[in-house]
Amino acid sequence: MNSSAESLRGARLLGRRHAGGWSSRMAFILAAAGSAVGLGNVWKFPYIAGEYGGGAFVLVYLACIGLIGLPILAAEIMIGRRGGGSPIHSFESLAAREGHSKNWRVIGWIGIGCAFLILSFYSVVAGWSLSYLWFVVDGQIAAAGSESHDVALAMGDLFANLLASPAALLAGHTLIMGITMLIVAGGIRSGLERAVCWMVPGLFLLLIALVVYAAATTGRFTSAITFLFKPDFSALSWEAVLVALGHAFFTLSVGMTAMMAYGSYLKRHVSIGKASFAIAGLDTLVALLAGLAIFPIVFAQGLEPGAGPGLIFVTLPIAFTEVPGGSLVAMLFFLFLAIAALSSTISILEPVVEYLEQRRAWTRPKATTVMGTSIWMLGISSVLAFNVAADVTVFGMNLFDFLDFVTSNLLLPLGGLLIAIYAGHVLSREALADELGLGESRLLEIWRFLLRYLTPVGVGAVLIYNLI
Ligand code: TRP
Repeated sequence: MNSSAESLRGARLLGRRHAGGWSSRMAFILAAAGSAVGLGNVWKFPYIAGEYGGGAFVLVYLACIGLIGLPILAAEIMIGRRGGGSPIHSFESLAAREGHSKNWRVIGWIGIGCAFLILSFYSVVAGWSLSYLWFVVDGQIAAAGSESHDVALAMGDLFANLLASPAALLAGHTLIMGITMLIVAGGIRSGLERAVCWMVPGLFLLLIALVVYAAATTGRFTSAITFLFKPDFSALSWEAVLVALGHAFFTLSVGMTAMMAYGSYLKRHVSIGKASFAIAGLDTLVALLAGLAIFPIVFAQGLEPGAGPGLIFVTLPIAFTEVPGGSLVAMLFFLFLAIAALSSTISILEPVVEYLEQRRAWTRPKATTVMGTSIWMLGISSVLAFNVAADVTVFGMNLFDFLDFVTSNLLLPLGGLLIAIYAGHVLSREALADELGLGESRLLEIWRFLLRYLTPVGVGAVLIYNLI
């Protein structure tokens, strides 16, 4: 079958399925916000902000979100909705309709490769929150808290022991992949939508409660504010800029066509411009709240802000052991963290499944099982990277750090760069105006300017610098 016939078939399949797209604007925003809000906000943002020195890094990160991430987010959703199929099919059908090269679908291919890599390690980290849920239930956290010696040290040991156990990590990873596959196999309305509508608001409320706790009890809330918001540019390196940029992509779920896939189920009347503001705004708020919940505890306990990936798993349990009813709060927190991670994992798997559903006419459950299992297998390399294979390094990084680096710092920016060029230079201005729903406004002009010039130059420069 030649590929225009293929994309026609894709479009037809989709026409049928569109009836089952997101049921409302709110459902879409929650699903997309659920994709954006995840481990990136609660786990990764605080620890990289800590590693790269706080304020100046946060400022660069916020600039990357507003000036680069947000325009690309809107572009992705727009391409998805206008193309109406899986990311690869969307580029094909747009090429046929708007008369440009089909080769832009390479963006979809990069996205699928990237989805594989990201989900494989993301699921392992998401599994940590399930392990911690278990640690609360079986009393290990309480025990670490009640020991007479240094609580911070005991929590550090708990985390180190978890990482040292391949079986424990594999169990968490397997559970997360299993649940993800179940939800995705269930489809948009009965799977994804039902899952996200209570996950996202729940996590949000809990984080606010934690910030209030941190502000009220640690006595170090102002140090945290100073650390996060008072920029010290002498602490800023080029590497920090790359990490901030990569994280802006990661946290908004852009650059990998996940938002494109979600956009393909979006009804025509929803304003993509406004929805994108809401998604990016919520995402940023959650990251900052996480920082404000965690750093007061870090400072109050004399911990190192740059302690790395264990930061939230070492700090927050301390807080949990010190408040009355802390076990309940701890349980809720790790449960919600797992849930926030799941509302992201499903969005990473979705484009891959949507593609196979259309190209191979596989059923959703079949596509989900095949892809989910392959990703699970790849994830075993991240499981082992923390213990038996800790000495295996690629370019000086262990397998886990390597996957994180290649995706966040190379593939997502590359995907984002291509999406920006495509939306800014290949698609017509009319198409943009039509899809964005911002009318003939100033905003449209600013958005198009950012996509056409600032994003490609900025992302390109950082990428080239870092490749060299
Ligand atoms: N944004 C999610 C987080 O911050 C992770 C995520 C979901 C993601 N979908 C993605 C990252 C697509 C990159 C691409 O936890």
